[in-house]
Amino acid sequence: MQAITYSKYGGPDVVQISEVPTPIIKDDQVLIKVHAASVSSGDWRARSLILPKGFGLLGRLMFGIFGPRKPILGTELSGTIEAIGASVKKFKIGDAVVAFPDISMGAHAQYCAMKEDGLIVKKPHNLNFAEAASLCFGGTTALSFLRDKCGIQPNEKVLIIGASGSTGSAAVQIAKSFDAEVTGICGPNNVALVQSIGADHVIDYTKEDFTKNGETYDIILNCNGEIGFSDVEHSLAPRGRLGLILGNFKQLLGLERAPKKSGKKVIPGVAMTKLEDLELLAKLAENGKYKPLIGHTFDFEAAQEAHAMVDTGHKRGNVVLIMQEQPSDNLNMAANNAGANWHPFT
Ligand SMILES: NC(=O)c1ccc[n+]([C@@H]2O[C@H](COP(=O)([O-])OP(=O)(O)OC[C@H]3O[C@@H](n4cnc5c(N)ncnc54)[C@H](OP(=O)(O)O)[C@@H]3O)[C@@H](O)[C@H]2O)c1
Repeated sequence: MQAITYSKYGGPDVVQISEVPTPIIKDDQVLIKVHAASVSSGDWRARSLILPKGFGLLGRLMFGIFGPRKPILGTELSGTIEAIGASVKKFKIGDAVVAFPDISMGAHAQYCAMKEDGLIVKKPHNLNFAEAASLCFGGTTALSFLRDKCGIQPNEKVLIIGASGSTGSAAVQIAKSFDAEVTGICGPNNVALVQSIGADHVIDYTKEDFTKNGETYDIILNCNGEIGFSDVEHSLAPRGRLGLILGNFKQLLGLERAPKKSGKKVIPGVAMTKLEDLELLAKLAENGKYKPLIGHTFDFEAAQEAHAMVDTGHKRGNVVLIMQEQPSDNLNMAANNAGANWHPFT
């Protein structure tokens, strides 16, 4: 099969198309014919080793000390089941699925093997394959931080820094599904876009500094740039939480804390994902509450251009590679009326 591989860290030009063996599945695995796969900020970090401050050594331990340990990037994909192992019960050949290999990578290939009880769900019927390929990376991160780490509650005021990117655009929609009041921060070209995905308010970071506008928020979610507690202390409401999707090493170690008497919290960490999270994201999508935002699609052959777009730090939502021929997409994008009153948390 063909795959997009890399053998050294560097810019977009280190990725190339290579011929590699098609995975041979075990009894408990499925072989997925990959139709689309996102190129995420995770791929950018693994490819370039450009990491937040303090992560240098940890990054090499994770991705490979002298060069990449895993030659095929790609954390998430959509496709159809091509073959199943002898003991597989959950999926059958021809099922359209979404899979999230996450840090195991391997999605930028024509085929990908996954355990049937791994992070795989049926493709939401109302997403095309490109959208389905972007369900997981931003969605699971946003869900993990908003719901699990920051404990979002209905009617809370949530500020999302970097609202036009992959995690930010997912976070806007997921926070709205929790009935929060959402403010998104983005650049001037994306104000209308962030409004269109449901943000109640949008701040253009070239025109307004949110730390000086007198507003306070119950949750501030940082998806861009380095932010410390002292920068946003006065923008956090009593018991406000600063969720650091992007944080430096010191913050990740929990060494930056809010003073106890402030009642506020600094919450760093790594998104943790369970199968139920993917199932919830798929359900949110089917009920019209979450539609992964696709800014750019590229053919498989244009992988370097796709990576270059991610490297700008200004991609809109998700960048998707079309890996190979897709079955006719069910593009029934009409709003799912049955879902209009559906609520994920009741
Ligand atoms: N902790 C975890 O488990 C975890 C998981 C996933 C990702 N991450 C990290 O989270 C970060 C975001 O990931 P992503 O995939 O969402 O990235 P992304 O898709 O590249 O989005 C970045 C967004 O940031 C915005 N931006 C650029 N400059 C800005 C500024 N000065 N102020 C506010 N927004 C600005 C851009 O919007 P404009 O184009 O409108 O400027 C862009 O849409 C990455 O650093 C990634 O490594 C962490």
